[in-house]
Amino acid sequence: MLVNLNKLLLRAHKGHYAVGAFNINNLETLQGVVAAAESLCAPVILQTSEGALEYAGMEYLASLVRVAAKKTRVPLVFHLDHGKDFALIKQVIRSGFYTSVMFDGSRLLFKENMRKTRELAMLAHARGMTLEAELGVIKGTEDKISANEDLFTDPQQAAEFVAETKCDALAVSIGTSHGAFKFSGTPKLDIERLKEIARLVRVPLVLHGASGVEKHELEKLHEKCEVVGDCERLNAAKGVPDSQIREAIKFGITKVNIDSDLRLSFTSAVRLAFLNDKKMFDPRIYLGLGRSAVTEIVKKKIKLFKGKG
Ligand code: G3H
Ligand code: 13P
Ligand code: ZN
Repeated sequence: MLVNLNKLLLRAHKGHYAVGAFNINNLETLQGVVAAAESLCAPVILQTSEGALEYAGMEYLASLVRVAAKKTRVPLVFHLDHGKDFALIKQVIRSGFYTSVMFDGSRLLFKENMRKTRELAMLAHARGMTLEAELGVIKGTEDKISANEDLFTDPQQAAEFVAETKCDALAVSIGTSHGAFKFSGTPKLDIERLKEIARLVRVPLVLHGASGVEKHELEKLHEKCEVVGDCERLNAAKGVPDSQIREAIKFGITKVNIDSDLRLSFTSAVRLAFLNDKKMFDPRIYLGLGRSAVTEIVKKKIKLFKGKG
């Protein structure tokens, strides 16, 4: 069944747990995520970035999600992640494929972000969809998302923004960033800021850039790597430790966005498959291994967000 964000996040908000939002780009990532959700009987948010739509096409991705929603018993949200292109977001809302959209106006001036968010929230609500907004800038780079500096969310501004725009969820900047290179020193989120935002803002809060970038995944990725420079760079990658994710959920985060961890798991499984069998040329074998790796990492995340396991 396809539902909107409110259906899942309002309950999570009350219950002090979070729902995982996982980026999908193709059949294998979608099936990998849904298999994990099914095995734990947990709802998940499937999200596509503008880059994913460019890569696979909206209709293809939407058809895959529609089939998954028909076949599974767990509730799914189909959500547009980091929508920036106003015309594309309107097209997504009109398409009838999605149940939720994000408008990322974080790089706009406060008033302009507020005005555009409000307009899109009205359009989304008229179709029974939810709208996630972003205030404050989240650093980092992944294809279409790129910012050199973060600008942490101001709690007072967040309160005014939510009241004015009627958005259903708010993405906040509290120290995470997109991609695999999140911290140069010790990973640390601004939990005091999060507490203050949660005190003033009533809607569910969203943590972007929440991948853990685990060391053993990195090791698998650069096993037998001959390009030494690349290996050194990968060694420097650092994500958000599980303990900080738990802390963030305890103090108000209800939706946690994960993309990089899926990419790392998928790619290291495929890479290992080729290292183990250089003659392999059946895509079903290596893509199947990538898909299973996605299921494993998503199961771990679901347990972490629910405080289980
Ligand atoms: O938050 C950003 C997502 O990871 C999207 O990345 O634009 O490379 O698909 P992408
Ligand atoms: P990661 O790069 O940490 O996986 O963050 C993904 C994200 O925020 C998608 O919106
Ligand atoms: Zn994000």
